[in-house]
Amino acid sequence: MTYQGRFRVWRGDDAGGALEDFTVEVNEGEVVLDIIHRLQATQAPDLAVRWNCKAGKCGSCSAEINGRPRLLCMTRMSIFEESETITVTPMRTFPIIRDLVTDVSFNYTKAREVPSFAPPADLAPGEYRMQQVDVERSQEFRKCIECFLCQNTCHVVRDHEENKEAFAGPRFLMRVAELEMHPLDTADRVDQAQDEHGLGYCNITKCCSEVCPEHIHITDNALIPMKERVADRKYDPIVWLGNKLFKR
Ligand code: SF4
Ligand code: F3S
Ligand code: FES
Repeated sequence: MTYQGRFRVWRGDDAGGALEDFTVEVNEGEVVLDIIHRLQATQAPDLAVRWNCKAGKCGSCSAEINGRPRLLCMTRMSIFEESETITVTPMRTFPIIRDLVTDVSFNYTKAREVPSFAPPADLAPGEYRMQQVDVERSQEFRKCIECFLCQNTCHVVRDHEENKEAFAGPRFLMRVAELEMHPLDTADRVDQAQDEHGLGYCNITKCCSEVCPEHIHITDNALIPMKERVADRKYDPIVWLGNKLFKR
């Protein structure tokens, strides 16, 4: 079944831009990325959009559809009414390059700020052993496709450019939590999470988890357990005293 769908797409660059209206053919089984491609092929050959896999795995096609952060390639046209006008805009938290493409380098900067896995010095790579339950715990976080929709959604940075320096965002706080929960990691991630990656800014609104296309329980399984570890370390009087005495 084919119909003419109405779309409103943001066009512009870092100097400014506006929403433009288009009417584009929609066929049964299509996703929003198919429509953007048809729009490029038929009416707007210079429309910029970033994509790679069209299978929800590369994390490139993140944008906002009717204001909701989503992957263009995983958003089926069938969830909308045929009469609806569908608005497609770039992610709001990152600087615009052109049209639907944003500069996501903030995320790579934050990734580099997380010190890498630090196994015990006396263990060679083939000697690592860990329980299956620990493998499964990190496996959930490892499903991340780095689409940065969670980073785009979190209110701590979405409208607060000034917080970007101090706050790593949910994706990278989850990485810190993954390493902290890793039985073979020897680095101290608890103080780092609070003091260097801005865990205290997160007030567990869970918006990050709601938009994650991999359905990772970012808040419940990574951020809250990490906050609990910080609270144990900083506010439990016995642990606090132990830290002072033995300088862990
Ligand atoms: Fe995307 Fe989820 Fe990874 Fe965030 S945690 S970058 S929303 S896949
Ligand atoms: Fe932001 Fe997620 Fe925390 S949306 S405030 S990082 S729970
Ligand atoms: Fe790869 Fe959408 S194109 S996730």
